[in-house]
Amino acid sequence: MALPRYAFFQGRVVPYSEAHVGVLTHGLNYGTGVFSGIRGYWNDDEQQPFVFRPEDHYKRFLESAQMLGMTLPLDARGLTGAMMDLVRQEGFREDCYVRSLAFYADETVGVRLHDLTPETAIVALPYGRYIDKEEGAHATISSWRRVDDNAIPARGKIVGSYVNSALAKTEAMRSGFDEAIVLNGDGHVAEGSAANFLLVRNGVVLTPPITDNILEGITRRTVIDLLRDELGIPVVERSIDRSEIYVADEAMFVGTGVQIVAITRVDHRPMGNGRIGPIAAALRKLYFDVVRGRRPEYRHWCAPVYTNAEETAGRNREEAQRAAAVAHP
Ligand SMILES: Cc1ncc(COP(=O)(O)O)c(C=O)c1O
Repeated sequence: MALPRYAFFQGRVVPYSEAHVGVLTHGLNYGTGVFSGIRGYWNDDEQQPFVFRPEDHYKRFLESAQMLGMTLPLDARGLTGAMMDLVRQEGFREDCYVRSLAFYADETVGVRLHDLTPETAIVALPYGRYIDKEEGAHATISSWRRVDDNAIPARGKIVGSYVNSALAKTEAMRSGFDEAIVLNGDGHVAEGSAANFLLVRNGVVLTPPITDNILEGITRRTVIDLLRDELGIPVVERSIDRSEIYVADEAMFVGTGVQIVAITRVDHRPMGNGRIGPIAAALRKLYFDVVRGRRPEYRHWCAPVYTNAEETAGRNREEAQRAAAVAHP
Protein backbone atom coordinates (compact mmCIF):
# COMPACT_ATOMS: atom_id res chain seq x y z
CA MET A 1 0.00 0.00 0.00
CA ALA A 2 1.36 3.44 -0.96
CA LEU A 3 1.74 5.73 2.04
CA PRO A 4 -0.12 9.04 2.26
CA ARG A 5 1.79 12.23 1.40
CA TYR A 6 0.48 14.21 4.36
CA ALA A 7 -0.97 13.77 7.83
CA PHE A 8 -2.91 16.06 10.13
CA PHE A 9 -0.86 15.69 13.30
CA GLN A 10 -0.36 17.85 16.39
CA GLY A 11 -2.88 20.38 15.08
CA ARG A 12 -1.55 20.94 11.54
CA VAL A 13 -0.91 19.25 8.22
CA VAL A 14 2.65 17.88 7.98
CA PRO A 15 4.46 15.52 5.59
CA TYR A 16 3.42 11.96 6.52
CA SER A 17 7.02 11.09 7.37
CA GLU A 18 6.96 13.66 10.19
CA ALA A 19 3.90 12.17 11.93
CA HIS A 20 5.74 9.88 14.37
CA VAL A 21 5.03 8.31 17.74
CA GLY A 22 7.44 6.60 20.15
CA VAL A 23 7.20 2.89 20.95
CA LEU A 24 6.13 3.65 24.53
CA THR A 25 3.04 5.56 23.38
CA HIS A 26 0.12 4.63 25.65
CA GLY A 27 -2.37 4.11 22.80
CA LEU A 28 0.02 1.75 21.04
CA ASN A 29 0.71 -0.33 24.14
CA TYR A 30 -2.77 -0.52 25.64
CA GLY A 31 -5.13 0.16 22.71
CA THR A 32 -6.32 3.37 24.39
CA GLY A 33 -7.49 5.15 21.28
CA VAL A 34 -10.52 5.61 19.07
CA PHE A 35 -10.76 5.86 15.31
CA SER A 36 -12.98 6.51 12.37
CA GLY A 37 -13.04 5.51 8.71
CA ILE A 38 -14.75 7.76 6.19
CA ARG A 39 -14.95 7.35 2.42
CA GLY A 40 -14.64 10.00 -0.25
CA TYR A 41 -16.31 9.19 -3.58
CA TRP A 42 -15.08 10.60 -6.88
CA ASN A 43 -17.81 12.20 -9.00
CA ASP A 44 -16.64 12.34 -12.59
CA ASP A 45 -19.35 14.76 -13.78
CA GLU A 46 -18.41 17.29 -11.13
CA GLN A 47 -14.67 16.52 -11.18
CA GLN A 48 -14.29 16.22 -7.44
CA PRO A 49 -14.71 13.75 -4.58
CA PHE A 50 -17.55 13.92 -2.07
CA VAL A 51 -16.82 12.86 1.51
CA PHE A 52 -19.73 10.90 2.92
CA ARG A 53 -21.38 12.07 6.16
CA PRO A 54 -18.17 13.42 7.76
CA GLU A 55 -19.86 15.24 10.63
CA ASP A 56 -21.84 12.11 11.59
CA HIS A 57 -18.64 10.08 11.60
CA TYR A 58 -16.92 12.67 13.76
CA LYS A 59 -19.87 12.80 16.17
CA ARG A 60 -19.43 9.07 16.75
CA PHE A 61 -15.66 9.55 16.95
CA LEU A 62 -16.18 12.09 19.75
CA GLU A 63 -18.66 9.80 21.51
CA SER A 64 -16.12 6.97 21.34
CA ALA A 65 -13.52 9.35 22.80
CA GLN A 66 -15.98 10.24 25.56
CA MET A 67 -16.21 6.54 26.49
CA LEU A 68 -12.45 6.62 27.12
CA GLY A 69 -12.74 9.86 29.12
CA MET A 70 -10.85 11.62 26.34
CA THR A 71 -11.44 15.32 25.66
CA LEU A 72 -10.35 16.52 22.22
CA PRO A 73 -9.67 20.14 21.29
CA LEU A 74 -11.73 19.97 18.06
CA ASP A 75 -15.48 19.41 17.80
CA ALA A 76 -17.16 17.55 14.88
CA ARG A 77 -17.12 20.65 12.70
CA GLY A 78 -13.45 21.40 13.49
CA LEU A 79 -12.44 17.79 12.76
CA THR A 80 -14.39 17.91 9.48
CA GLY A 81 -12.57 21.13 8.52
CA ALA A 82 -9.14 19.66 9.34
CA MET A 83 -9.97 16.50 7.38
CA MET A 84 -11.22 18.44 4.34
CA ASP A 85 -8.02 20.55 4.30
CA LEU A 86 -5.94 17.39 4.35
CA VAL A 87 -7.93 15.67 1.60
CA ARG A 88 -7.68 18.84 -0.53
CA GLN A 89 -3.89 18.85 -0.12
CA GLU A 90 -3.67 15.20 -1.15
CA GLY A 91 -5.37 16.31 -4.39
CA PHE A 92 -7.31 13.09 -4.99
CA ARG A 93 -9.02 12.49 -8.33
CA GLU A 94 -10.33 9.07 -7.32
CA ASP A 95 -12.15 7.31 -4.47
CA CYS A 96 -10.39 7.72 -1.15
CA TYR A 97 -10.54 6.72 2.51
CA VAL A 98 -9.88 8.91 5.51
CA ARG A 99 -8.59 7.38 8.74
CA SER A 100 -8.84 9.53 11.86
CA LEU A 101 -7.30 8.43 15.14
CA ALA A 102 -7.34 9.91 18.64
CA PHE A 103 -5.04 8.17 21.08
CA TYR A 104 -3.40 8.72 24.42
CA ALA A 105 -0.01 9.97 23.36
CA ASP A 106 1.94 9.85 26.65
CA GLU A 107 5.08 7.74 26.55
CA THR A 108 4.60 6.10 29.88
CA VAL A 109 4.02 2.75 31.58
CA GLY A 110 0.79 2.10 33.52
CA VAL A 111 -2.59 0.95 32.29
CA ARG A 112 -5.31 3.54 32.96
CA LEU A 113 -7.45 6.17 31.27
CA HIS A 114 -6.82 9.11 33.63
CA ASP A 115 -4.00 11.69 33.70
CA LEU A 116 -3.18 11.15 30.05
CA THR A 117 -3.03 13.50 27.07
CA PRO A 118 -4.74 12.71 23.76
CA GLU A 119 -3.41 13.42 20.27
CA THR A 120 -5.36 13.43 17.01
CA ALA A 121 -4.03 12.20 13.66
CA ILE A 122 -5.78 12.09 10.29
CA VAL A 123 -4.52 10.53 7.06
CA ALA A 124 -6.18 9.95 3.70
CA LEU A 125 -5.35 7.53 0.90
CA PRO A 126 -6.77 6.25 -2.39
CA TYR A 127 -9.08 3.33 -1.73
CA GLY A 128 -11.11 0.77 -3.62
CA ARG A 129 -12.91 -2.36 -2.46
CA TYR A 130 -12.46 -3.81 1.04
CA ILE A 131 -14.04 -7.15 0.18
CA ASP A 132 -13.45 -8.38 -3.38
CA LYS A 133 -16.73 -10.21 -3.76
CA GLU A 134 -19.17 -7.37 -3.06
CA GLU A 135 -21.87 -9.07 -5.12
CA GLY A 136 -21.49 -12.52 -3.61
CA ALA A 137 -19.57 -13.12 -0.38
CA HIS A 138 -19.27 -16.39 1.48
CA ALA A 139 -19.50 -15.82 5.25
CA THR A 140 -19.06 -18.09 8.24
CA ILE A 141 -20.35 -17.92 11.79
CA SER A 142 -17.27 -17.07 13.81
CA SER A 143 -16.14 -19.08 16.80
CA TRP A 144 -15.23 -15.73 18.39
CA ARG A 145 -17.89 -13.73 20.28
CA ARG A 146 -18.33 -9.98 19.91
CA VAL A 147 -16.91 -7.80 22.73
CA ASP A 148 -19.54 -6.93 25.30
CA ASP A 149 -20.63 -3.46 26.41
CA ASN A 150 -19.43 -4.34 29.91
CA ALA A 151 -16.01 -5.44 28.64
CA ILE A 152 -15.12 -2.95 25.88
CA PRO A 153 -18.07 -0.85 24.64
CA ALA A 154 -18.94 -2.24 21.20
CA ARG A 155 -20.98 0.81 20.14
CA GLY A 156 -17.78 2.89 19.85
CA LYS A 157 -14.79 2.49 17.55
CA ILE A 158 -12.23 1.75 20.23
CA VAL A 159 -8.79 0.71 19.01
CA GLY A 160 -8.22 -2.14 21.50
CA SER A 161 -11.48 -3.87 20.63
CA TYR A 162 -10.30 -4.42 17.06
CA VAL A 163 -8.28 -7.40 18.24
CA ASN A 164 -11.72 -9.03 18.52
CA SER A 165 -12.48 -8.11 14.89
CA ALA A 166 -9.05 -9.23 13.71
CA LEU A 167 -9.41 -12.66 15.38
CA ALA A 168 -12.76 -13.20 13.64
CA LYS A 169 -11.59 -11.93 10.24
CA THR A 170 -8.41 -14.00 10.12
CA GLU A 171 -10.16 -17.15 11.32
CA ALA A 172 -12.76 -16.71 8.55
CA MET A 173 -10.26 -15.96 5.78
CA ARG A 174 -7.83 -18.72 6.74
CA SER A 175 -10.77 -21.13 6.57
CA GLY A 176 -11.52 -20.01 3.00
CA PHE A 177 -14.42 -17.61 3.68
CA ASP A 178 -14.64 -13.94 2.76
CA GLU A 179 -15.93 -12.63 6.06
CA ALA A 180 -17.13 -13.58 9.55
CA ILE A 181 -20.55 -13.20 11.14
CA VAL A 182 -19.88 -12.61 14.82
CA LEU A 183 -22.43 -13.55 17.50
CA ASN A 184 -22.64 -11.65 20.77
CA GLY A 185 -22.32 -13.19 24.22
CA ASP A 186 -26.07 -14.00 24.20
CA GLY A 187 -25.67 -15.99 20.98
CA HIS A 188 -27.51 -13.43 18.84
CA VAL A 189 -26.07 -12.12 15.61
CA ALA A 190 -24.04 -8.96 16.23
CA GLU A 191 -22.25 -8.04 12.99
CA GLY A 192 -19.34 -8.75 10.67
CA SER A 193 -15.72 -8.18 11.67
CA ALA A 194 -15.96 -4.55 10.53
CA ALA A 195 -19.47 -4.13 9.18
CA ASN A 196 -23.07 -4.19 10.35
CA PHE A 197 -25.40 -6.99 9.34
CA LEU A 198 -28.82 -7.05 7.65
CA LEU A 199 -31.00 -9.99 6.76
CA VAL A 200 -34.05 -10.22 4.51
CA ARG A 201 -36.87 -12.58 5.37
CA ASN A 202 -40.32 -12.56 3.76
CA GLY A 203 -39.85 -9.06 2.35
CA VAL A 204 -38.81 -7.54 5.69
CA VAL A 205 -35.27 -6.39 6.49
CA LEU A 206 -34.06 -7.34 9.97
CA THR A 207 -31.02 -5.88 11.67
CA PRO A 208 -29.74 -6.23 15.24
CA PRO A 209 -30.58 -3.33 17.58
CA ILE A 210 -27.83 -1.06 18.89
CA THR A 211 -28.20 -2.76 22.29
CA ASP A 212 -26.93 -6.08 20.87
CA ASN A 213 -23.24 -5.12 21.07
CA ILE A 214 -22.91 -3.71 17.60
CA LEU A 215 -21.03 -0.65 16.40
CA GLU A 216 -23.48 2.20 15.87
CA GLY A 217 -22.76 2.26 12.15
CA ILE A 218 -23.31 5.30 9.95
CA THR A 219 -23.89 3.10 6.89
CA ARG A 220 -26.42 1.06 8.86
CA ARG A 221 -28.35 4.27 9.62
CA THR A 222 -28.04 5.36 6.00
CA VAL A 223 -29.37 2.12 4.54
CA ILE A 224 -32.22 1.88 7.06
CA ASP A 225 -33.38 5.31 5.81
CA LEU A 226 -32.90 4.39 2.15
CA LEU A 227 -34.69 1.05 2.48
CA ARG A 228 -37.68 2.61 4.24
CA ASP A 229 -37.94 5.93 2.40
CA GLU A 230 -36.78 5.09 -1.11
CA LEU A 231 -37.38 1.38 -1.58
CA GLY A 232 -40.50 1.15 0.64
CA ILE A 233 -39.13 -1.90 2.47
CA PRO A 234 -39.93 -2.30 6.18
CA VAL A 235 -36.90 -2.53 8.47
CA VAL A 236 -37.17 -4.09 11.91
CA GLU A 237 -34.41 -3.65 14.49
CA ARG A 238 -34.49 -6.73 16.70
CA SER A 239 -32.24 -9.54 17.92
CA ILE A 240 -31.52 -12.16 15.25
CA ASP A 241 -31.00 -15.85 15.98
CA ARG A 242 -28.28 -17.78 14.21
CA SER A 243 -30.76 -20.21 12.62
CA GLU A 244 -32.70 -17.32 11.04
CA ILE A 245 -29.70 -16.79 8.77
CA TYR A 246 -30.04 -20.30 7.39
CA VAL A 247 -33.68 -19.73 6.35
CA ALA A 248 -33.32 -16.12 5.16
CA ASP A 249 -33.77 -14.94 1.57
CA GLU A 250 -30.90 -12.44 1.54
CA ALA A 251 -28.24 -11.05 3.87
CA MET A 252 -25.81 -8.14 3.67
CA PHE A 253 -22.85 -6.55 5.36
CA VAL A 254 -22.95 -2.76 5.39
CA GLY A 255 -20.21 -0.38 6.46
CA THR A 256 -17.94 2.38 5.24
CA GLY A 257 -15.22 -0.10 4.28
CA VAL A 258 -17.31 -2.96 2.87
CA GLN A 259 -19.97 -0.58 1.45
CA ILE A 260 -22.88 -2.95 0.67
CA VAL A 261 -21.79 -6.58 0.39
CA ALA A 262 -24.34 -9.22 -0.57
CA ILE A 263 -23.82 -12.42 1.42
CA THR A 264 -24.78 -15.24 -0.92
CA ARG A 265 -23.53 -18.22 1.12
CA VAL A 266 -23.15 -18.86 4.84
CA ASP A 267 -21.19 -21.90 6.00
CA HIS A 268 -21.55 -23.50 2.55
CA ARG A 269 -25.34 -23.03 2.54
CA PRO A 270 -26.71 -20.82 -0.26
CA MET A 271 -28.76 -17.79 0.79
CA GLY A 272 -31.93 -17.84 -1.32
CA ASN A 273 -30.83 -19.03 -4.75
CA GLY A 274 -27.16 -18.39 -3.96
CA ARG A 275 -26.96 -15.20 -6.02
CA ILE A 276 -27.32 -11.55 -5.06
CA GLY A 277 -30.97 -10.90 -4.21
CA PRO A 278 -33.27 -8.11 -5.47
CA ILE A 279 -33.15 -6.03 -2.30
CA ALA A 280 -29.34 -6.10 -2.03
CA ALA A 281 -29.04 -5.29 -5.74
CA ALA A 282 -31.47 -2.34 -5.54
CA LEU A 283 -29.86 -1.04 -2.35
CA ARG A 284 -26.35 -1.20 -3.83
CA LYS A 285 -27.42 0.80 -6.88
CA LEU A 286 -29.17 3.43 -4.79
CA TYR A 287 -26.36 3.62 -2.23
CA PHE A 288 -23.67 4.27 -4.85
CA ASP A 289 -25.80 7.00 -6.45
CA VAL A 290 -26.30 8.61 -3.05
CA VAL A 291 -22.66 8.48 -1.89
CA ARG A 292 -21.37 9.87 -5.22
CA GLY A 293 -23.66 12.88 -4.81
CA ARG A 294 -25.96 11.92 -7.68
CA ARG A 295 -29.17 12.16 -5.65
CA PRO A 296 -30.04 15.80 -4.86
CA GLU A 297 -32.26 14.82 -1.89
CA TYR A 298 -29.22 13.34 -0.16
CA ARG A 299 -26.60 15.92 -1.17
CA HIS A 300 -26.51 17.18 2.43
CA TRP A 301 -24.70 13.92 3.31
CA CYS A 302 -22.01 14.53 0.68
CA ALA A 303 -19.31 17.12 1.42
CA PRO A 304 -17.64 18.41 -1.79
CA VAL A 305 -13.85 18.52 -1.45
CA TYR A 306 -12.70 21.12 -3.97
CA THR A 307 -15.59 23.51 -4.37
CA ASN A 308 -18.70 24.09 -2.45
CA ALA A 309 -21.20 22.75 -4.96
CA GLU A 310 -24.05 24.81 -3.49
CA GLU A 311 -22.04 28.01 -3.88
CA THR A 312 -21.04 27.03 -7.39
CA ALA A 313 -24.66 26.31 -8.29
CA GLY A 314 -25.67 29.69 -6.77
CA ARG A 315 -22.96 31.52 -8.73
CA ASN A 316 -24.00 29.76 -11.94
CA ARG A 317 -27.62 30.77 -11.32
CA GLU A 318 -26.64 34.41 -10.73
CA GLU A 319 -24.45 34.46 -13.84
CA ALA A 320 -27.26 32.95 -15.90
CA GLN A 321 -29.67 35.60 -14.58
CA ARG A 322 -27.16 38.41 -15.35
CA ALA A 323 -26.61 37.04 -18.87
CA ALA A 324 -30.37 36.80 -19.39
CA ALA A 325 -30.80 40.41 -18.17
CA VAL A 326 -28.13 41.62 -20.64
CA ALA A 327 -29.66 39.65 -23.50
CA HIS A 328 -33.22 40.78 -22.68
CA PRO A 329 -32.96 44.17 -20.96
C1 LIG B 1 -16.98 -3.39 13.93
C2 LIG B 1 -17.62 -2.51 12.92
N1 LIG B 1 -18.94 -2.62 12.72
C3 LIG B 1 -19.58 -1.84 11.82
C4 LIG B 1 -18.89 -0.94 11.03
C5 LIG B 1 -19.64 -0.08 10.07
O1 LIG B 1 -19.70 1.24 10.57
P1 LIG B 1 -19.79 2.49 9.60
O2 LIG B 1 -20.95 2.26 8.72
O3 LIG B 1 -20.01 3.65 10.51
O4 LIG B 1 -18.53 2.56 8.86
C6 LIG B 1 -17.51 -0.80 11.21
C7 LIG B 1 -16.71 0.16 10.45
O5 LIG B 1 -16.72 0.35 9.28
C8 LIG B 1 -16.86 -1.60 12.17
O6 LIG B 1 -15.54 -1.51 12.36
